[in-house]
Amino acid sequence: MSYDIAADIQRLKKEKNAVILAHYYEEGDIQDVADYVGDSFYLAKMGQKVEQQVILLAGVVFMAESVKILNPSKTVLVPDMGASCSLVKGAPYQKYLDWRKQNPDGVAVTYINSSAEVKAISDVIITSSNAEQIIKSIPADRKILFGPDQHLGRFLSKKLNRPFELWPGACEVHVLFNARKLYEMTLEHPDAVVIAHPECDETVLNYAQVIGSTSRLLEEVEKNPAKKFIIATETGIFHQMQKKRPDATLIQAPVLDSGCLCNNCPYMKMNSMEKIKHALETFEPQIRMDEVLRKKAQVSLDRMMDITSGKSVTWPAEFQA
Ligand code: 13P
Ligand code: SF4
Repeated sequence: MSYDIAADIQRLKKEKNAVILAHYYEEGDIQDVADYVGDSFYLAKMGQKVEQQVILLAGVVFMAESVKILNPSKTVLVPDMGASCSLVKGAPYQKYLDWRKQNPDGVAVTYINSSAEVKAISDVIITSSNAEQIIKSIPADRKILFGPDQHLGRFLSKKLNRPFELWPGACEVHVLFNARKLYEMTLEHPDAVVIAHPECDETVLNYAQVIGSTSRLLEEVEKNPAKKFIIATETGIFHQMQKKRPDATLIQAPVLDSGCLCNNCPYMKMNSMEKIKHALETFEPQIRMDEVLRKKAQVSLDRMMDITSGKSVTWPAEFQA
């Protein structure tokens, strides 16, 4: 009989009082062994709700850090501590701090795809599923500093008709979708609905009928009666899309170099079932954070949670380093 690692992980979860939260970009076998699968906002919220003492976050490290910042008493595990994100790498603390100091009167609206250190010098955290609600709650006369994803920022700035100062970061996966090739694909498949994540370049977003977070894109595939979709986001989400719509044809939006696997997030794909089993057995790798840093980072994450649950918040008049 072949070895069933999924059964082993299920046993370990019970033994260790652990829960697995997985992002849509993980491989299908990881999503299937998880208790909850969702977008980055959903995972942060579930991290606050679950009762188990141990939370294994099958996603990238900034997602696990967010869970730890909001729930310091929990043991938060990741399968691989190397699972970073190009947006985190493109926003080093010292440079972000300099940017803030140059614009002390600005409200720093920071994408959750950022380090704990950057969150600690931000005013509010957003994800692509809650950004519009959060930005609308910022007084209209305040200047907005938006980072680290310039494409998400540009998209929101246009949609909300409000100027932002943009940090020049980008997702190394989503920027590779190619507008010219996408245009050719839409001619080949005129019956397809084009859906895209807002981390894509504006030239790609121009062809999309629906732009939204991973959960919004999944919802579109589930509810739209169309039979064909062209999807400009990471491949992992096809697993849930195909489950919800086995009758639909799902086509990956094209990248410039058609032979490459560049629509796979190399960080999300560092995780594996073996690494999950190891983390549950050993409680390593584990997120550990200096308490001073954690408390500072919690302020901006708490504002996100407060605004999205309808509470009113106050905004600091000036940045204090
Ligand atoms: P979502 O919040 O839409 O899940 O996006 C997270 C992400 O990393 C997209 O690249
Ligand atoms: Fe970061 Fe892009 Fe990977 Fe999302 S897909 S985790 S933004 S590198």
